[in-house]
Amino acid sequence: MDVRTSRYYEVYARWRRDPHGFWAEAARDIDWIEPPKQVFDPDAGVYGRWFTGGVCNTCWNAVDRHVLKGRGEQAAIIYDSPLAGQKRTITYHRLQVETQVLAAILRNLGVEKGDRVILYMPMVPEAVIGMLACARIGAVHSVVFGGFAANELATRIDDARPKVILSASCGLEVGRLVKYKPLLDEAIRLVRHKPEACLILQRPQEEAPLVAGRDHDWAKLRDEAIVFARSVYDCVPVEATDPLYILYTSGTTGRPKGVVRDNGGHMVALKWSMQNFYGVEPGEVYWAASDVGWVVGHSYIVYAPLLHGCTSILYEGKPVGTPDAGAFWRVIAEHGCVALFTAPTAFRAIKKEDPQGRLLAQYDLGKFRTLFLAGERADPDTVQWAEKLLKVPVIDHWWQTETGWAIAGNPVGLGQLPVKYGSAAVAMPGYQVDVVDDACKQVAANTIGSIVIKLPLPPACLPTLWQQDERFKESYLAEFPGYYKTADAGFKDEDGYIHVMSRTDDIINVAGHRLSTGGMEEVLSAHKDVAECAVIGVADPLKGEIPCGFIVLKSGVERPAAEIEQECVALVRDKIGPVAAFKLAITVVRLPKTRSGKILRGTMKKIADGEPWAMPATIDDPAILEEIGAALQGKGLRA
Ligand code: COA
Ligand code: AMP
Repeated sequence: MDVRTSRYYEVYARWRRDPHGFWAEAARDIDWIEPPKQVFDPDAGVYGRWFTGGVCNTCWNAVDRHVLKGRGEQAAIIYDSPLAGQKRTITYHRLQVETQVLAAILRNLGVEKGDRVILYMPMVPEAVIGMLACARIGAVHSVVFGGFAANELATRIDDARPKVILSASCGLEVGRLVKYKPLLDEAIRLVRHKPEACLILQRPQEEAPLVAGRDHDWAKLRDEAIVFARSVYDCVPVEATDPLYILYTSGTTGRPKGVVRDNGGHMVALKWSMQNFYGVEPGEVYWAASDVGWVVGHSYIVYAPLLHGCTSILYEGKPVGTPDAGAFWRVIAEHGCVALFTAPTAFRAIKKEDPQGRLLAQYDLGKFRTLFLAGERADPDTVQWAEKLLKVPVIDHWWQTETGWAIAGNPVGLGQLPVKYGSAAVAMPGYQVDVVDDACKQVAANTIGSIVIKLPLPPACLPTLWQQDERFKESYLAEFPGYYKTADAGFKDEDGYIHVMSRTDDIINVAGHRLSTGGMEEVLSAHKDVAECAVIGVADPLKGEIPCGFIVLKSGVERPAAEIEQECVALVRDKIGPVAAFKLAITVVRLPKTRSGKILRGTMKKIADGEPWAMPATIDDPAILEEIGAALQGKGLRA
């Protein structure tokens, strides 16, 4: 761990000197049907496009080419599901056959290049096969996380307008079966744009009734298609700039943003990251313990490890409770994982259950080299606990759904740099990260400001929002001219290490899941007895943050507040989904506001977190903050 032995500074300087040469070189690791005409075209798209004129196929690069080069019998995916009590190994050859078969089914259902396909799936191999089959035929997939409810699914269906939806009868949570099919049916009832067909994976735990004329049994169509599919459905050539997928993420309103990912740039950056950032070799076993519904799942369960010829673990379980806090060690030992990538919250959960790490003694983690954390701020306590227990480097890295890969991190592949606890380390090649004030002037080292990225963004980052160039410009490019706004605040220290402290918008991070408090406020406001509300994220030792909703009841409402609070909790679960983890609604007489009517959410959060706070000069009525403190105390929260 030495600045002098790491190649990072040399590689970053090489990128700064010649960014196009840098990415042209990285692009040689990808099979192109036609090589790009330009590495970067500044006149294309909103801020320029990568690898214009290039023709390629992501499924070819992730699957077929490995079979051709002799990896056919290597495991591509190891599905390990303590929740289903099942394990399954899928070789690269089998993955090729299965993607061909599903590609054939999708084509028979009328899916053409450029058509959208939504996946609303649990963590089963068919979800990965579904994504790759779309890539194979040039269809654009959009995976919706299973913890979202019908309403959220409906919003995404209406925005993406898919021809076909791939789903399953159910998902599995600890001690609970999540019936997906009724949620899917309800979503389709709500949407304006009805999909032409749904392909339903009937899981053994629950058989769902199918809607005649619309729903098809996945297994039945697979059996029929397997006979003829193999020779027919080769990978379809697509432009490097064609969309591979849309992934919806929380925006500053309830309306999610459709982050677009292209084919060419995405492959180049992800492939580069596997060796240079994660330090993983082709053929090794790599595990991202996330969900295919999140960006980490897209990039590091599915695409990057497969593009790199690794074996990727698909884990349908939790860090604790399936069956115990030794679950992660069991998976690493059993499958010989060299790296694990997860969110800090997972390690906080393990630490809580097994603080001494006693369960580790049962397992041989001989092959394990590195733990990677992302998705939320990695608290130094948890990082140090994991370092001490596992005796391997624990690497924090910072990124967003929008970027698709790390903006900053400690690149073990290039040689690890010294660790600074609380910092996500240094900017990756491709990213010039600056910290600026409101006037877009760079601030001095160690001064907190808005973290921004100089345009153009590197390959794999979003070129735009799905069919919303203007919203993309407004949301990300308008406030700081020449820069992409990350909406994260923080600072760079004298060594250029980046410290990400908080969001500058209404996004909160609950157990590594990104949620909009604005979206929850929209739901609460719709309750018939709620006059107004404010949702804030309050600190939580396990999940990092949890949402807390303050509600003001309409005058004349006589029903007990506790009853309405319970209804509010149920409403958010019903409309957004269990993943919102909204369990705390507190009735107050009024909300603290500035004289111009702006709700003082920041001050409320400080009160709830027990942090020092100052009375805002613009407050309308200072007594209201005392009322908020008392209401929090009434619920047993710090105040
Ligand atoms: N389908 C349906 N429901 C889901 C779901 C899914 N795919 N994923 C989560 N949920 C439900 C959970 O069952 C829970 O329901 P409950 O309120 O009935 O208990 C709720 O959504 C909240 O989920 P979560 O916040 O994840 O809490 P949890 O108690 O289930 O698990 C952790 C807590 C820390 C173990 C878990 O969040 C975790 O492993 N997180 C880290 C890994 C990760 O996925 N990070 C994301 C990006 S890297
Ligand atoms: P998502 O789009 O779900 O990946 O969430 C992205 C947001 O999570 C970022 O904008 C940050 O606010 C937060 N985040 C992700 N990784 C980190 C990290 N390593 N340190 C601090 N915050 C992080």
